[in-house]
Amino acid sequence: MAKVFIIGVTGGVGHRLAPMLIEAGHEVAGLYRKPEQKADLENEGVRPVSGDLMDMNADDMADAIRGSDIVVFSAGAAGSGKERTSKIDGQGPVKLIQACQKLGTKRVYLVSAFPEAGRGGEPNEGFEHYMRVKKQADVALVQSGLDWVILRPGTLQHEDGDGKVSLGLAVPYGNVARGNVARVLAELIGQPSIKHELIELTDGDTPVSEAVSALTR
Ligand SMILES: NC(=O)c1ccc[n+]([C@@H]2O[C@H](COP(=O)([O-])OP(=O)(O)OC[C@H]3O[C@@H](n4cnc5c(N)ncnc54)[C@H](OP(=O)(O)O)[C@@H]3O)[C@@H](O)[C@H]2O)c1
Repeated sequence: MAKVFIIGVTGGVGHRLAPMLIEAGHEVAGLYRKPEQKADLENEGVRPVSGDLMDMNADDMADAIRGSDIVVFSAGAAGSGKERTSKIDGQGPVKLIQACQKLGTKRVYLVSAFPEAGRGGEPNEGFEHYMRVKKQADVALVQSGLDWVILRPGTLQHEDGDGKVSLGLAVPYGNVARGNVARVLAELIGQPSIKHELIELTDGDTPVSEAVSALTR
């Protein structure tokens, strides 16, 4: 049993991940920024911690995650502009890395983006910026000295999914249900020997537990 902190716990992936982790016996806490979210989180068994990634510095982040064994970063600006994308998707993970280094918290799971996302369409500066900052966050985590896993899902769908995925160091691009992203994160958290891996994920044919176990070296 571990203490897991989810940044993005109210999001499409995060709100599906929290109950899976609680069901697996973990204690779950998570960051929220809207007062009305607090009671819902408590009702779901999540310890709510208030904070806005737009304002938080690394010390604020350390205060938020203090006592956690594992942190999941699945927050995102969701196309709300370049400044918010830089601060949330880009600087958010960097502040988290600094907080983890300060506290000695080793295990970090970062939801990043699939390299082929958005290829083949009309160039869009906002999306290109998103992909750049996602990559910068990946680089910062890889160089952090922490026990990281970077998950690169394909295009997210608002579904729970059927628990079957395509998962590996490189897989063909496709869509993935947010529920399947959550299942993979929960399974990865249950298998701590899988670390220092950049993993691509789409919906597929392999049950999540089998797909994650196949990553063990
Ligand atoms: N969309 C795609 O196709 C796609 C593909 C690959 C990867 N991703 C990445 O996958 C991750 C999860 O996506 P998702 O669909 O679950 O995201 P989502 O539903 O848009 O949720 C985003 C989460 O981030 C939180 N957040 C946003 N701004 C914040 C702030 N200033 N301070 C604190 N928290 C803040 C949101 O909180 P509120 O509830 O307060 O808004 C929410 O919990 C993101 O990192 C995203 O970039 C997305």
